[in-house]
Amino acid sequence: MSKIICKNNIFVLETKNTHYVMGIDEAGYNHHIHWGQKCDVSDYCADNTGDENSNHTRLDEYKQELTPFGQTMYRECDIKAEFEDKCREINLKYDGYKKSDDMLSLVFSDKFYPLEITLNYQIFENSDIIKRWTTIKNTGTGRIDFEKISSAQFSLPSVNAYTFKNTNGAWGGEFIETNNVLEGGYTVFESRKGSSNHNNSPYFIAYQNADEKTGDVYFASLAYSGNFKVSCSRDLYGITRVVMGMNDFDFSHTVNGGEIFDTPPVYCGYVQGFGEMTRQMNRFAVNHILPKQFNDKPLPVLYNSWEATGFDVSVNNQSALAERAAEMGVELFVMDDGWFGQRKNDRAGLGDWYVNNEKFPNGLNELIERVNELGMDFGIWVEPEMVNPDSDLFRKHPDWAYHYPNREACTLRHQLVLNMTRKDVQEYIFNLLDELLSNHNIKYIKWDMNRPFSETGAENLQNPKMYSYLHTMAVYNIVDKLKEKHPEVAIETCASGGGRCDLGALSHYDQAWTSDNTDGIDRMTIQKGYSLLRPAKTMRAWVTDIEGINKPCSLDFRFAVAMQGSLGVGGNLTKYSDSDLEICKKNIALYKQIRDVVQFGDLYRILDIEKDEVLLNQYVTVDKSKGVAFLLANGTRFYKKRIPVCFDGLDENKRYKLTIKNNTYEKSGAYLMNVGIPLHIHGVDYNEIILIEEV
Ligand code: DGJ
Repeated sequence: MSKIICKNNIFVLETKNTHYVMGIDEAGYNHHIHWGQKCDVSDYCADNTGDENSNHTRLDEYKQELTPFGQTMYRECDIKAEFEDKCREINLKYDGYKKSDDMLSLVFSDKFYPLEITLNYQIFENSDIIKRWTTIKNTGTGRIDFEKISSAQFSLPSVNAYTFKNTNGAWGGEFIETNNVLEGGYTVFESRKGSSNHNNSPYFIAYQNADEKTGDVYFASLAYSGNFKVSCSRDLYGITRVVMGMNDFDFSHTVNGGEIFDTPPVYCGYVQGFGEMTRQMNRFAVNHILPKQFNDKPLPVLYNSWEATGFDVSVNNQSALAERAAEMGVELFVMDDGWFGQRKNDRAGLGDWYVNNEKFPNGLNELIERVNELGMDFGIWVEPEMVNPDSDLFRKHPDWAYHYPNREACTLRHQLVLNMTRKDVQEYIFNLLDELLSNHNIKYIKWDMNRPFSETGAENLQNPKMYSYLHTMAVYNIVDKLKEKHPEVAIETCASGGGRCDLGALSHYDQAWTSDNTDGIDRMTIQKGYSLLRPAKTMRAWVTDIEGINKPCSLDFRFAVAMQGSLGVGGNLTKYSDSDLEICKKNIALYKQIRDVVQFGDLYRILDIEKDEVLLNQYVTVDKSKGVAFLLANGTRFYKKRIPVCFDGLDENKRYKLTIKNNTYEKSGAYLMNVGIPLHIHGVDYNEIILIEEV
């Protein structure tokens, strides 16, 4: 049972398998005491030892939960304020704590200025995940400007160096895993582009001697889609710290008198092995983070028109695609970009969200009705935060895009970013989407965002440097309001592929478009990076006509890759041969059989395509009665590999049945996990989907 123990200014958060401990020392300083395995609670104390000489201060050495800027503390701080009289130093005293069964709040206030800072912790039954966030309260009447406000600080227990796993990506190559040993100085993972973007992930994964199954793994993921910063450091004494939250780059945040500000939350955990990290976070996100309408429902197989018809959508070509999609067993037909305004290419139309009547002379309902008759739901693409200068909207409201009056605006993809911090822009966007959903039988929205910010002037704001935070909150609010009014509509986050797939976005959107790169081979790597700390169910994966840019792979192979998330199809189906159609039908039927296991099960990464030349990913239901394994290889070398394929995550004592290449096996879980089934994995295009069922 999870519980919170508070005694003599020592606070213990007891989760399923871990202790997270902090305390307040006699001088009133907060200390981080322990994060890891459980110890005897009565042994914990706030030890305030530290060196003190004219160059190295105790305060600089302490492991802390909260380190504001000021006094003799010179390392990365969590919070830096400027008060009205220009004093830039915070000096806190501890005021006490509040506690309930699952929540702990430690309250501090400035010794002179009207500032209260509260550290919040929430624990969850049957989980090692802890939610953390910080609350800032201006208890006075004037304004306080913050140069930095982080969500949380972490200190890691070992004095040996940790390696930090993150992702280093780009458009078309999102979530590529990196591992940096941090011996000294700083390692930073961040976004400066206005939203969380393709480059790094807003989390840290710190480990020592860890692999999928063993080794200490500490992780924390920030739920925020604006500019973020995860700043990891190691000092001379070997203390590794992480400060994470909103990026202080081009940032400032004003909290006026009487206002309260809650930072975006962070979800953290300590486990053994990367596999357990993924499984804990996956379960937690499905149960506690994803929006409630669809979190426990299997997502439908969708078709998306983008790769088939690009901007050239029409009632006729979409109907033809829809017929083919329905034949294959698709459940949701999504029309992508091109249906509105004067949208013939990416140069015009964004902002004009009325139906293009050359392409749809009788409105959208003609197509929607056709799709519904075919037995599918209808979904549609929008990019609400953007505007093309060549649009009626921009001609009418040129001041609605972020801009500086005396600077030329940089367009990217011929578009500008709308200033979503303005109330009128927010209303315009909500109303247009609300109207679209009210007048049409639409069950899904793909919400795209295809460029980073620039010229982020926002004359409407008291403090324009709050744009990234306020823009992000405006997007979340509109999504929430739409969902409240149209609870049957699922919404997908997309930003030129996987440019906004963080846990913040996934607290509001139901799923994510993972990457515009739909190459089956590249996808294996992209999907691994995605699913490290993001739920597999949210990972939209389409099978398209890209048969492998550098290495060819078959339609079956591409299905076996895409079925490891929420399956979609995105090829030009009107060109498919009868045998292609049969392959699609067969795989979609199979996916419907296994999707519960994939979308709600536990993922075991057994063989890694980068390290082992073979990919073996297995999903298992929580009760271990059913599993599905995806075994893939694209061109093995040296006549390899004749190997015993061992499975994972099964119950040793249960007996399971599985069929591989027409051979049926019935074995115990112990046998399947420890002895395995010998297989000859070879050829340019090896793919197997193995169903494992309890007998
Ligand atoms: C970028 C997305 O990632 C694509 O899937 C597609 O929706 C295009 N935008 C449309 O412009």
